[in-house]
Amino acid sequence: MLKGGRSLERQVSLKSGARVQDALERLGHEVVAIDVGGDLVARLSDERPELAFVALHGRDGEDGTVQELLEVMGIPYTGSGVSACISASDKVLAKHAMRDAGIPTPDFFAFSETAFRELGAAQALPAIEERLQFPIVVKPARQGSALGIKFARTPADVPTALVAAFSYDRKVLLERHVAGRELAVSIIDEGGAPRVLPIVEAVPEEEDFYDFEARYEIGRTRFVCPAELDDGLTTRAGAIALEVYGLLGCAGFARVDLMLESGTEDLYVLEANPIPGLTETSLLPQAADAAGIGFDDLVERILSAAGAVVRAT
Ligand SMILES: Nc1ncnc2c1ncn2[C@@H]1O[C@H](COP(=O)(O)OP(=O)(O)O)[C@@H](O)[C@H]1O
Ligand SMILES: [Mg+2]
Repeated sequence: MLKGGRSLERQVSLKSGARVQDALERLGHEVVAIDVGGDLVARLSDERPELAFVALHGRDGEDGTVQELLEVMGIPYTGSGVSACISASDKVLAKHAMRDAGIPTPDFFAFSETAFRELGAAQALPAIEERLQFPIVVKPARQGSALGIKFARTPADVPTALVAAFSYDRKVLLERHVAGRELAVSIIDEGGAPRVLPIVEAVPEEEDFYDFEARYEIGRTRFVCPAELDDGLTTRAGAIALEVYGLLGCAGFARVDLMLESGTEDLYVLEANPIPGLTETSLLPQAADAAGIGFDDLVERILSAAGAVVRAT
């Protein structure tokens, strides 16, 4: 079981990992927990596990790096493969793929640091602001847990927001803000076919609450599952999430984050998370629970979706 790692989401991953480890042990498996670091390949060569449960989030774990190493070593692993991880963990790649496939995602423009430094991309900002209209969401291409996401209300806010986003990644995106309700659609593979779990709605406890990073602090967001949506919307959100899952080539499990726009009732996909949190408070386990799938059962299903026949000891 791989956990921890170097990413900024290390702490979440340690919690996910500990919880997964307990479940695996309850299920009768022999578990070796590896905190992913410089000795990963050496540890894997020594342990030669039948299967790796990847409970990493963010850099290395979710972006295909660790998956590639597991492929090289011939060790089967849980969740999505290398290519799905690469495209899902990079919001710019994922959004281009979605836009090309006709899946609704908020309008956006993306830049690399080089475009700013060497090509004068800053001069293009007024045109972008004109196209996207304020407020604009500025985010790093590859990051999670809302880290580095800033909300620009006026042109004066944009440079600071860009600096913040560039401190997380060399590539950033400016995205149209969608005012509305925030929905998370979790998907798990069941008997070889992806199944949509009850939708979770994240309800911010404070009005006009645009500090996204603070939303992840306990008590500042309330989660409702199943979300109160009419059948039509529930079906639409599920169908869009499944399309994204298929488009990016996800496997085993994933969570797709969407916005339901107030007024228009249109749905927009923000991102797909190939390895969403598996902690006590995480959304995918909550969704599974609402479907009558307890945590151990969830872990068992993720294992069996990994295709390997893992014999309990
Ligand atoms: N375009 C947007 N419009 C409205 N809210 C947004 C937008 N982009 C991000 N957010 C808010 O920020 C949160 C995190 O954004 P997301 O794109 O899912 O990145 P992360 O990988 O950090 O979860 C969302 O759940 C939502 O609350
Ligand atoms: Mg998200």
